[in-house]
Amino acid sequence: MQVLTDKCQRMLKPAKNNQTFKLTDRVFGEFQKVTLANTGIHLDDTKRAMITSRFSRRLRELGMDSFDQYLACIRDTKHPEYAEFVDTITTNLTYFFREPHHFEKLREHILPRLQAITSTADPIRIWSAGCSSGQEPYSIAITALNEACAGHRKVKILCTDIDSKMLRQTEHGSYRSAELRGLSDHDKNLWFSKRPDGTVRANPNVRELIFCRYLNLFDPWPIKPYLDVIFCRNVLIYFDIQRQEKLIRGMAKLQKPGATLILGHSETIANCGDVYRRSANTVYERI
Ligand SMILES: C[S@@+](CC[C@H](N)C(=O)[O-])C[C@H]1O[C@@H](n2cnc3c(N)ncnc32)[C@H](O)[C@@H]1O
Repeated sequence: MQVLTDKCQRMLKPAKNNQTFKLTDRVFGEFQKVTLANTGIHLDDTKRAMITSRFSRRLRELGMDSFDQYLACIRDTKHPEYAEFVDTITTNLTYFFREPHHFEKLREHILPRLQAITSTADPIRIWSAGCSSGQEPYSIAITALNEACAGHRKVKILCTDIDSKMLRQTEHGSYRSAELRGLSDHDKNLWFSKRPDGTVRANPNVRELIFCRYLNLFDPWPIKPYLDVIFCRNVLIYFDIQRQEKLIRGMAKLQKPGATLILGHSETIANCGDVYRRSANTVYERI
């Protein structure tokens, strides 16, 4: 069991049975408010059953009596249970080379253009915002490494997420066979090594491109300008339009004209046509 604050310690009782706790409308409403205020994620009614079953189990582990008690813990974002809560409610679907046209664009246009800038020794800086378990940044790294002979500039990929478990996996770079969807045998053999437990792990020369930082997109971003490419794919969909706009404008501040922003298949730059223009399907150029 994780370390608990005094307040929550006092609430603990020994775990009892397999009971499912009742999630009343009022308490579910409070969960929605806390989640929205802290993460920007709207927990819609379809999440209610998931919360009831997963967190009933958690309540039993913690020896709690009700969702009210759990709520009291997660209201404090510094409480260890808060991270556990966030890790459970995030949607982490991802796979290698998801939306392959983005990686074609990266290989054929974006990286060659950035590599052609010979007046600087600075690395090419790419941000994978909402990197989940890392298949996106490793796809970027593999694309860059496969093209490495085409230029002298190194590539650095900043990977951020609000889900600490996903971020740990990204940092470690290891995957079970079920998580290798989208990765060709060629890339698997070239850039990953088999481990005794049946998983594969990205080789050190791939991992050295990857830099992981925990970041809630609604907290300040300690990120140095300027970023050549931002991948923020399948993340904005979880937020309302005002929050999407706030994030896109924040990203614009970190990019110089000509830099690239790549969104997911169902996302757009919304009302930010004054800072980005569309250059291809879900690919935008900083104005
Ligand atoms: C569906 S995954 C997308 C993964 C990857 N970008 C892709 O397209 O395959 C969405 C990710 O956004 C992260 N996320 C959600 N809300 C966030 C927030 N407020 N700050 C940072 N990351 C967040 C989730 O934890 C999750 O890993």
